[in-house]
Amino acid sequence: MKVIIVSDKNHMGRVAADLIEADMRTKTPYVLGLATGSTPVPLYQELIRRNRETGLDFSTAISFNLDEYIGLEVTHDQSYRYFMNHELFNHININKDSTFVPDGLAENIEEVGKDYEKAIRAIGGIDYQVMGIGTNGHIGFNEPGSSLASRTRKVRLTENTILDNSRFFERKEDVPTDVITMGIGTILDTRKAMLLASGSNKAEAIAKSIEGPITATVPASSLQMHPNVTWIVTEDAAVNLQLEWN
Ligand code: GLP
Repeated sequence: MKVIIVSDKNHMGRVAADLIEADMRTKTPYVLGLATGSTPVPLYQELIRRNRETGLDFSTAISFNLDEYIGLEVTHDQSYRYFMNHELFNHININKDSTFVPDGLAENIEEVGKDYEKAIRAIGGIDYQVMGIGTNGHIGFNEPGSSLASRTRKVRLTENTILDNSRFFERKEDVPTDVITMGIGTILDTRKAMLLASGSNKAEAIAKSIEGPITATVPASSLQMHPNVTWIVTEDAAVNLQLEWN
C-alpha cells in the first residue's frame, strides 16, 4: 500500500494521471474503473490535456463507472452518465459504446447489478480503479455497514451522504435516496486501485481508512486489503495521519 501526499488538487491530478498513463502503455485493451464527484475532476482534466497534447490514446480503452443514482434521467445534469460525458468522455477519443455506467433507470436493478459484474468479468477485470471518498468513508456508494464482500447492487443512501450531495441539487429533497454501486468485493478484485482525497473535510475519513482498523463501518478501510492500492492525498486531507508515509 502506497500513500502519496501532494501539495494541492492539480498536483494530485498529475500524479494520478502519471500512474494511469504508465499502466495504460503496458496493456491493450485497457479497462479503466472511473468515479464521479468533484475530487477526480483534476485527474480528468489532465487526461484530457494529455489526450490532446501528448497523444495519450483512449481509442481502445473500456471504462466501467462505480455507481449511478436510481431514477435520474441520463440527461439530468446530476446523473453520473451526464457527469462522465461532460467531464471526460466528450473530450477524449474514447468510443462511447465502450463506456459503461450502471443503468439506474432499469426496472430490475438486481439484474443490472448481476449483468454489470458479468460484463466486468467477461472483459478480464478492471485494470485501474479510480475512487474518491465520502466524508463518512464511503467508496462508490458503499455506505458504512456495507459487506466487505458486496457486489454491484442497490443501496439506500445515508442521511449524511444525502446532505453532502445536496450541494449539487436545487433542494435536498431532489437527491435520489437509492443508488446502484459496485460492491466492496468488486472494488477489491480490481488489478490496481487509487483513492484520491483533497480538502480538510476528508481528513478524518482518510486517517480512519489508512491507519484505522479494517471495518465495514469505514468502507474505504477495506482498501488496506487491496493488493495494489495507492492513496493520493492533498496535505490538508492528510493532516490526521500519524505514520510516516512517502
Ligand atoms: C459521491 C460518489 C463518490 C464520491 C463522493 C465524494 O458520493 N458516489 O464516488 O467519492 O461523492 O464526492 P466529492 O469528490 O465531490 O467530495
